[in-house]
Amino acid sequence: MRIIFFAGKGGVGKTSVSAATGIKVAQMGHKTVVMSLDVAHSLADIFDLDRGLLDKNKGQPIGVSDNLWIQELDIQEEIQRYWGEIHMYFSGLLNMSGLDEVLAEELAVFPGMEEVSLLLYINKYVREKTYDVILLDCAPTGESLRFISIPTTLDWYMKKIFKWERTVAKYVRPLAKRVTDIPLPDDNYFQAIEDLFEKLKGVDQVLVDPEITTVRLVTNPEKVVLKETQRAFMYFCLYKMNIDAIIMNRILPETVTDSYFSNWLKGQQRNLAEAAEFFNPVPIFPVNLFSGEIIGYDYLRDLADQIYADRNPLERFYKEEPYQLIKEKSNYRLKLKLPFVSKKDVELSKMYEELVIRIGGFKRHILLPRQVASLNTVTAKMEGEYLNVVFKGDDHGREKE
Ligand SMILES: Nc1ncnc2c1ncn2[C@@H]1O[C@H](COP(=O)(O)OP(=O)(O)OP(=O)(O)O)[C@@H](O)[C@H]1O
Ligand SMILES: [Mg+2]
Repeated sequence: MRIIFFAGKGGVGKTSVSAATGIKVAQMGHKTVVMSLDVAHSLADIFDLDRGLLDKNKGQPIGVSDNLWIQELDIQEEIQRYWGEIHMYFSGLLNMSGLDEVLAEELAVFPGMEEVSLLLYINKYVREKTYDVILLDCAPTGESLRFISIPTTLDWYMKKIFKWERTVAKYVRPLAKRVTDIPLPDDNYFQAIEDLFEKLKGVDQVLVDPEITTVRLVTNPEKVVLKETQRAFMYFCLYKMNIDAIIMNRILPETVTDSYFSNWLKGQQRNLAEAAEFFNPVPIFPVNLFSGEIIGYDYLRDLADQIYADRNPLERFYKEEPYQLIKEKSNYRLKLKLPFVSKKDVELSKMYEELVIRIGGFKRHILLPRQVASLNTVTAKMEGEYLNVVFKGDDHGREKE
């Protein structure tokens, strides 16, 4: 079983790269599904399929060639399948507040429901061993990174809040009916949440197991895109998901000599050099800008060849965590593997929200989460192969107590 997430900013080429990878892996003989949350049905367009086919299929997988399926989730269908009771309670509540019934139903789709639906499918496919390979064409970063925190948040909710809420609702419901018209959720609602939780159980372990799941960040050699990719890199690291490659899409090929593009070319060169500093030691796979849109099987096959050449796309191209960030009381410790390096060779500087590590001619940038970036007392120490950078936080005098 192998799961690969393709994540990145809007329009960078996630759907094309996921589809191309799917084609190559399926041709190698692995039973593969490419899943997407995209409401625009781009997967179907990229494979040049009839959209009507997808609508009829109601968000279930469709076979596109030997060993290859595509699945574009349909949130309305998902609601009927998994969210019935939960959705009913909330749309009822919104409807009570005077909203039109149709609007209330629409609004009762919460942010996160789509992502949870995706996780439900992943877990189902993993449990039932439906496919050998699951490829995920993620929604653009920014909106979608939330999904990686869902399993832990839900776990917390179930352990700390859920039982309590359910019990309170049970005792308060008869009383509440006398004083207010606003319905408290009945026990079906709680049962539905419990069932959902049961179906999600274990998916968090699957996501952080580098033997099964890796993330590939798709990006372009443009400043704004790279900044967002750096941010995504940080979040996946924080949630301990293994990033095993950066796919640098839309590089202008050397054959472009027209003076109109000279600034683009220079800018891209500069950004490519910077990207190596941001993402090192995770490997970067360069992909050229094609001469036209990538639509249909043949172009996708070409794209896959550019990305992977002779490599097996299922390989884990980088196995270690690029860095770890550990909270220790009020301090944060960043732990980074730097073999063959001694402390005197390392030079650290912090610029705004970035930590810059220089070792001779080599430079590495690490974007820091906001709560760490605001701490300005920084110390560093080499311990064995690891560089430990400590960001000292305000302990509000706790240490003296
Ligand atoms: N290397 C490339 N050369 C030429 N065109 C490309 C390349 N990569 C992607 N494209 C084109 O760019 C457009 C956007 O690509 P794609 O749909 O794969 O991006 P996306 O990241 O999935 O976008 P969204 O965030 O909107 O889902 C498509 O028309 C695709 O054919
Ligand atoms: Mg897309």
